[in-house]
Parts: sequence; structure tokens; C-alpha cells
Amino acid sequence: MIRIPFNRPFAAGNGLDYVRTAIAASKFSGDGPFTAECHRLLERSLGVQKALLTTSCTHALEMAALLLNLGPGDEVIVPAFTFPSALNAFVLRSARPVFVDVRADTLNIDEAQIDQRITEHTKAIFLVHYAGVGCEMEVIMAIARRHSIAVVEDNAHGLYGKYRNQYLGTFGGLATLSFHETKNFTCGEGGALLINDAQFNERAEILREKGTDRSRFFRGEIDKYNWIDVGSSYLPSDLLAAFLRAQLEHRDQIQSRRREIWETYARELTSWAEANGVRLPNVPPECEQAYHMFYVIMPSFETRQALISHLAGFGILAVFHYLPLHLSPMGERFGGRRGDCPVTEDLSDRLLRFPFFTGMTSSEQSQIVDAVRAFRC
Ligand SMILES: Cc1ncc(COP(=O)(O)O)c(C=O)c1O
Repeated sequence: MIRIPFNRPFAAGNGLDYVRTAIAASKFSGDGPFTAECHRLLERSLGVQKALLTTSCTHALEMAALLLNLGPGDEVIVPAFTFPSALNAFVLRSARPVFVDVRADTLNIDEAQIDQRITEHTKAIFLVHYAGVGCEMEVIMAIARRHSIAVVEDNAHGLYGKYRNQYLGTFGGLATLSFHETKNFTCGEGGALLINDAQFNERAEILREKGTDRSRFFRGEIDKYNWIDVGSSYLPSDLLAAFLRAQLEHRDQIQSRRREIWETYARELTSWAEANGVRLPNVPPECEQAYHMFYVIMPSFETRQALISHLAGFGILAVFHYLPLHLSPMGERFGGRRGDCPVTEDLSDRLLRFPFFTGMTSSEQSQIVDAVRAFRC
């Protein structure tokens, strides 16, 4: 029986009061006052010129693919170690993924391998800041500028992480956030599109509202709304935004507790890791991480599986993460072959994530640490 789950969603402060207020205001659909407040909180705290809540990070990525007009014949650079959402976003538009391996130290896209994968068909780089630790954005943005290609930051893990003192999600023309229940800030299912390039503002509102200019209509700027572009329904209910507002308002409480949990794992497991040939996460000095997850790299696939079973014996759920996307059935359809991305193939087999959630008690963490320390590779 699992006693310590991998994740337990955290209900911050007055989230339920806000939901009650939203219900009392009889505003259940999207773009009500709580959504506006979340937009304001994200824009002010990150310094982005426009944030739009979405129903998920996946949908924000789909909006990015639409905004960039990705289509048949276009190629998009992606890390082989990421979640399928970024790929679905542009594959749905008939663009093709071009897989790039990740760096062994951060598991982020290896910026040194991007240039050689760029062709005349390359339209964009969709990157992920894995575990909320920033990619090498200085190099990546320089490559993108040199080739005039767009950068979309999938920042599902990294809200409030920084690279060279600048918030993740503020580098590319577009960036996305996730508020799924496993993320630092959550409303169950949700996300946001961050727009750093104002040329996308107007069309983003239209795509998000079923291809109509209804947002302008609701603001009283026009007297009727019409179908003027493609689009879908990407806006979440204001009830979800009400819950999310409380989370965003508790940023300091949430992030400082997560930092404590992360630092406790790192401190308490250092000797065990050294003695057993296990690698702890690496955060380069130019990065301030977002404290999204704590993972270890085990010496082998077998020891990783054995540690999962060992912890399960203590009622603790530890999980692996992404399978190499170029070797997935879909990835193979795009030409992915074993050996294309050796670092991804190796680390994906050996990575293990420990339970990590804001409401974890000290006693729960001690039990996890003790159980891990009792394991020998
Ligand atoms: C890097 C990354 N991007 C996107 C997603 C999808 O997020 P959502 O569930 O909000 O669509 C995930 C899911 O965990 C993820 O890890």
C-alpha cells in the first residue's frame, strides 16, 4: 500500500473562499474577474507584457504552434527528452519534429547540437526547462536570431525559475506554463500562454476564443463578434482561476517550502549518493531553479528499478520520467532510431524522481530519506 504518494496537490490559503466568491458571482465561464486577476499576477510578477490562462500547458503549446503558422514541410527542433505535448502541438499542424539530444548535466536540450540540425525548413525551437532549471538561453537565443527562427519555452516545470537573473518564460517570443496538479502552482488542470512578442497579442485572444473577436466584444470595443480566424476553446472556467489565484498569491510560501524540501533531499542524500555511484541533480551557477522536482541518476536501469521496488516496500511511490521521444512509436514514424540521442537514451533509463510536493511533512521526508539510505547499489 502506498503511504507516501509521489504527489499530493496543495490547496493554498483562501482558494476555497475564492471559489465560493466565484460561484456566488454566478460567473462560471472563462475570462471573469479571477482570470483577469491571474493574468495581472503573472504579468506583474514575471514582467511579461501579456499572459493568457489556458485549459492546459498542452493547449498553450497548441496556441503557440497556431500563432507561428506552423504547417506542412516545416521542421521544429525539440529535445528528445520531453513530454509529448510540445510535439503534438506542431505535429497536429503537420510540422515535423527534429530531435536533439540533451545535456548530461541538466537534461536540457544540448545547445551545442542545435545549429547542425537547422535546415532551410526549420521554423522554431520548442525547448523545455527540465525540472525548472534553465536551458542555456544566451546561446539558444543567439542561434534563433542568427537563423530567424522562433523560440517557444515550454516552462511547465519552471515558473519563477531564472536564468542569468531573468525569469524563465520571458526569453522566447512565446512561452507556456502548466497548472496541472503535479506542478508547483495548480488548479487541477490548467496552463498559460506567456506572450513576450506583442505582435501575437491580438491573434492569441482570437485563437483562444474559438477564432472569434469575442474578447474585444466583451471589453465593449466592438458591438458584435464574428468568426475571423481558426481557433478553439482554450480558456478555463473562472472557478479554476479562482483556485489558482490563491496559489499565485502564495508564491513565497509555496516556493520556500519546496526549496526546503529540495535542499533537505540534497543535503541528506549526498553521502549516500557518493557511496553508491548515484548522481544528484545539477543546477548550473547561472540558474536559479524553480524547485519543481528532485531526481537522482542511478548507476544503471537495474538499480533504478530495484530502488523503485525497494521504496514501494516502504509504501513510498518513486517514479521514472520521460521515455525517449525519438524511440516512441510516434517518434519512429518521424525517423527516430536508437543511437540518435545517446544521452537521452541512457539517462531516461536511470532517472528516478522522489516524492515531491508542497504539503510534504518533515516526517514523510525523513521516512523517504531513511528508506533511500537503506538501499545499496
Ligand atoms: C514539459 C511538459 N510540458 C507540458 C506538459 C503538459 O502539461 P499539461 O498537463 O498542463 O497540459 C507536461 C506535463 O507534465 C510537461 O512535463
